[in-house]
Amino acid sequence: MGKKTKTRIGILTAGGDCPGLNAAIRGIGKAAILEYGMEVIGISDGFLGLINNDYSVLKEENLSGILTLGGTILGTSREKPFKKNNTGNPFQDVDKPKLIKKHYDEIGLDCLVCIGGNGTQKTAARLSEEGLNVIGIPKTIDNDVWGTDTTFGFASAVNIATEAIDRLHSTANSHKRIMVIEVMGHQAGWIALHSGIAGGGDIIIIPEIKFDEKKIIETLIKRAEIKKSYSIVVVAEGIEVPKRKEDVCRKISAGQYIAKIINEKTGFETRETVLGYIQRGGTPSPIDRILATRYGAFAAELIAKKKFGNMVAIINDNLVPVPLKDVANKTKFVPADYPMIKKARYIGTSFGD
Ligand code: F6P
Repeated sequence: MGKKTKTRIGILTAGGDCPGLNAAIRGIGKAAILEYGMEVIGISDGFLGLINNDYSVLKEENLSGILTLGGTILGTSREKPFKKNNTGNPFQDVDKPKLIKKHYDEIGLDCLVCIGGNGTQKTAARLSEEGLNVIGIPKTIDNDVWGTDTTFGFASAVNIATEAIDRLHSTANSHKRIMVIEVMGHQAGWIALHSGIAGGGDIIIIPEIKFDEKKIIETLIKRAEIKKSYSIVVVAEGIEVPKRKEDVCRKISAGQYIAKIINEKTGFETRETVLGYIQRGGTPSPIDRILATRYGAFAAELIAKKKFGNMVAIINDNLVPVPLKDVANKTKFVPADYPMIKKARYIGTSFGD
């Protein structure tokens, strides 16, 4: 790197990709360059890029035209530098945190911006404890990062899942079927809850509410008895799937399991859709573009004020810094008494309990 005359920040994107990552890179990068006169370095493939010293200079022109782009121009990985890999691969035995600190110094970084979910913020907190200047930006479609009302990526995933559910209504109606759709969310039920309500799901099953198979069956039979010709069941991927001997030969997903028991116990024609990675692809929704831009610009402000060791967060629509040490090792689950759940129950939505 050339002689350093300006504050130099490094940006990395880590963990699962999602719509809005490039909007966030653009937000932090443009604010750093245009508002604060900083230099910006793009680190490749998450923390792997710092381990391998793989980076590039980001100029203002590199940040144009990426607001609406899905994915991440920097690439990402699920590399966890503080997690020992017992792969037997000699490369894995190197002291990865030591390499990260070495390359952070050699590149001449004054701050590292880590854009990612729970795992990323946990690593960011560890690097902060080790003396690096770090700022976290919460990203994930799962919306399960503690300390912030919402992560960017979530709104886009809810839009995608809701559109899929909307489409399932017409085919379920045509065939008089039970349609089960499994959505992502890791161990939390935020995507299932929001897309289930937005999409008019009749039954929404989330990890935070223990479901009773008998109640699910009863609900569907009651609907059939009052001449409801079809039903939509929205299932979060993270629900607990009981191990059954008849399923031992193959890993059965949450949605496949729920569809199986419905068909077995009601005899109703049932089909399942596992929506999968579509929820992580494509252009970010306007809500996510705005949130990612706000997060990025606020991160640049915190760096200018040397308020390191924080994650940017939004609480009641206010941008606030939250200490990384308070975020690490926590997950934000749907509260059992979440008001949205109560209102959904008022209109007859079942949560399988
Ligand atoms: O964290 C985002 C997410 O899409 C989760 O919803 C999902 O369970 C997980 O990533 C899938 O991980 P991978 O991309 O490693 O298959």
